Amino acid sequence: MKILITGGAGFIGTNFCYYMLKKHPDYEYVCMDSLTYAGNLHNLEKALENPNFKFVKASISDREAVDKLFAKENFDIVVNFAAESHVDRSIENPSIFLETNIMGTAALLDASRKYGVKRYHQVSTDEVYGDLPIDRPDLFFTEETPIHTSSPYSSSKASADLLTLAYARTYKMPVTISRCSNNYGPYQFPEKLIPVMIQKALNDENLPVYGNGLNVRDWLYVDDHCSAIDLIIHNGREGEVYNIGGHNEKQNIEVVKTILERVGKPESLITYVKDRAGHDLRYAIDPAKIHAELGWLPETKFADGIKLTIDWYLNNRAWMDDIFSGDYAKFNETEGGKYA
Ligand code: NAD
Ligand code: DAU
Repeated sequence: MKILITGGAGFIGTNFCYYMLKKHPDYEYVCMDSLTYAGNLHNLEKALENPNFKFVKASISDREAVDKLFAKENFDIVVNFAAESHVDRSIENPSIFLETNIMGTAALLDASRKYGVKRYHQVSTDEVYGDLPIDRPDLFFTEETPIHTSSPYSSSKASADLLTLAYARTYKMPVTISRCSNNYGPYQFPEKLIPVMIQKALNDENLPVYGNGLNVRDWLYVDDHCSAIDLIIHNGREGEVYNIGGHNEKQNIEVVKTILERVGKPESLITYVKDRAGHDLRYAIDPAKIHAELGWLPETKFADGIKLTIDWYLNNRAWMDDIFSGDYAKFNETEGGKYA
């Protein structure tokens, strides 16, 4: 079995590479990543020691590079993590989100179709459903919830989902889509809530909480996302969408206070700042379908997962320092060039 993992040098992609190498050591893996600011080749150093793992530096939007790779490798499965993933950046500059998340997905779909890939899996997000009211804890996103996006990021991801489903219907392509809630864990780039707060708390800096801090996210430890995707690509039904989430809703302010308590820093570091434009109020996944069809359940409780995550950042301060100094980008440039 040969699997293409796009975006494997980013947060979830990196965790997925290690999850799969451990779970299916006999498979062959090719990671394709263009190493944007969110990609970090250092993440994959251990994986690259494995003879079954290869890295290729290229963009999913580069049709020539994509075609060349598919022609050479004869993939069985494609798992597309590659994306611009940060909502705040999409508000600042939507165009790269359209280019990567929509046009890049289209290029992968075309190549998967041309070369007869047996399964194309699109890694999507619960943000395609928009948001839920804070005062209706009885409401959840199901796979039937209408697409109703808020940000340029979620709109680009929804477009990619629609394209993927259109290829399934029109060309009878064997696709699946997963829509997951907020992930946390090792290797998350320090622009997202949890690593931002850990980093700032450790440095005694103010912790910027958007708006009133009462927005709700449904947190899932990253390995649980990986186990769900592993099940879907092997046993999921073609043409289906699967929601992934573990009923773990928390207000942002609760998450921030948990981090402060764990690292032993005072709540006086909390600073309320201007709200995000169009800020989604609440996300909450109903994972009944993936549980009923594939037997998936999350294994990591938030109390354990947040401890593991904070400990990882404490034990890997060099990883964070490398990002803030910009050294990782230089490494991506010089070392990444060797994998072109
Ligand atoms: P990330 O930003 O940490 O990583 C994205 C990776 O994609 C990086 O390695 C980057 O270099 C690479 N990339 C970007 N543009 C590329 C291109 N044109 N060609 C090749 N590689 C490119 O993102 P993440 O948080 O790991 O998210 C991965 C996927 O999961 C995304 O599709 C995202 O929409 C989805 N998702 C994320 C979450 C979450 O909580 N982080 C939840 C649900 C779904
Ligand atoms: O739900 C899945 C999505 O989760 C993924 O599709 C996205 O790729 C991922 O980035 C994430 O989106 P969010 O916008 O929910 O994540 P973020 O970490 O940016 O923000 C989480 C919440 O915390 C959100 O309500 C905004 C708030 N926030 C965020 C930052 C970075 C703050 O209050 N302060 C901050 O500094």
